[in-house]
Amino acid sequence: MKKLFIFSIGLFISSIIFSQKFEGLALTPPMGWNSWNKFACDVSEDLIKKMADVMVSSGMKDAGYKYIVIDDCWQIGRDSSGNIIPDPKRFPSGMKALADYIHSKGLKFGLYSDAGMKTCAGRPGSRGYEYQDARTYANWGVDYLKYDWCSTGTQNAPASYKLMSDAIYKAGRPVVLSICEWGNNEPWKWGAEIGHLWRTTGDIYHCYDCILNHGTWNQWGWTVILDMQHKLRKYNGPDHWNDADMMEVGNGMSIAEDRAHFTLWCMLATPLMAGNDIANMTNEVQEILTNKEAIAINQDPKGIQGLRYLYTDNLEIWVKPLQNDELAFCFFNRSDEPQDINFKWDKYRVEDGISKTDIYLNKTNYKVRDIWAMKDLGTTKNATLKKTIPPHDVVLIRLSK
Ligand code: GLA
Repeated sequence: MKKLFIFSIGLFISSIIFSQKFEGLALTPPMGWNSWNKFACDVSEDLIKKMADVMVSSGMKDAGYKYIVIDDCWQIGRDSSGNIIPDPKRFPSGMKALADYIHSKGLKFGLYSDAGMKTCAGRPGSRGYEYQDARTYANWGVDYLKYDWCSTGTQNAPASYKLMSDAIYKAGRPVVLSICEWGNNEPWKWGAEIGHLWRTTGDIYHCYDCILNHGTWNQWGWTVILDMQHKLRKYNGPDHWNDADMMEVGNGMSIAEDRAHFTLWCMLATPLMAGNDIANMTNEVQEILTNKEAIAINQDPKGIQGLRYLYTDNLEIWVKPLQNDELAFCFFNRSDEPQDINFKWDKYRVEDGISKTDIYLNKTNYKVRDIWAMKDLGTTKNATLKKTIPPHDVVLIRLSK
């Protein structure tokens, strides 16, 4: 009897401590498209429908992208009962009809809200309306919620996100919860119980290594964000991802920089959310975003965040352990000059405590595949990878058995 009592108390306490998120919704990093980086507040039903159409016609859906996420500015107020109101001029058919349209394409629908009183663009946030909003989202058919952190004052971050997570769970429709508090409260330490991904930094900007100072906050080029990910490797994994932010591929950088950005996001096993105008992208950008072999590295079921294995000021060699003791290697020329590589495979050992990997490359004869060149380069035995890498570009190799 006493044992049963202690067991029941234990169950009760653990149900209070541990949130009930919908498990298993993001076993590999979420892939999709988000409106913010390119369109900011200029969102509408027509735009979103077009993006859904193009996600299918461009081959992105076939390559694995599935979420169409409307970021900030879809909402304009609340009615007298507190229900959130989508902008009727921009979304005249309403969110349910838009969700139905997106679902009819075999895609999933995402929305944005904020844990505070107002969103970052000053629209109504969900504070005080968490359960009501979660029910509304479930009725509309929302599958993904990006939940931001503006105007939150002294709110406690884990408690605020847990509140929305519980509200979603109670509403009964499985929704991926994307925690977006920019890494301010170390969400990697508490986010896995509550959501499926968490932003690790402030906002990305479409440049290689710039820092845009807005006074109270900065926006960063993708290499600046890349350098902030390393210490978080151990927190990344299936159903709980470090989110290095939506991509800027196709938003104005050089094609080498776009390719390198995409490749490093694949190596990080971070979500692949396109942030460009996919209806007007060049063939080169489309080829980058839909490269299935690069995407397979991002989507590897083990979900291991790649590590910066060797580096100098100019050249970085990243390694990502994959399932079946296979490996991805990314050679990244960070400099403004071309760099030569002469990499003799047999000499290297990949040892990584976090993923419990210990591979001597001279013990297995791997097949070498150059992913961007789409070429097989023989095997690793007694072989040297010789390449000249243009500035800000990458060579991506998969070693398979
Ligand atoms: C914050 C987020 C961005 C975007 C904007 C919208 O800055 O970090 O990703 O959602 O708000 O206002």
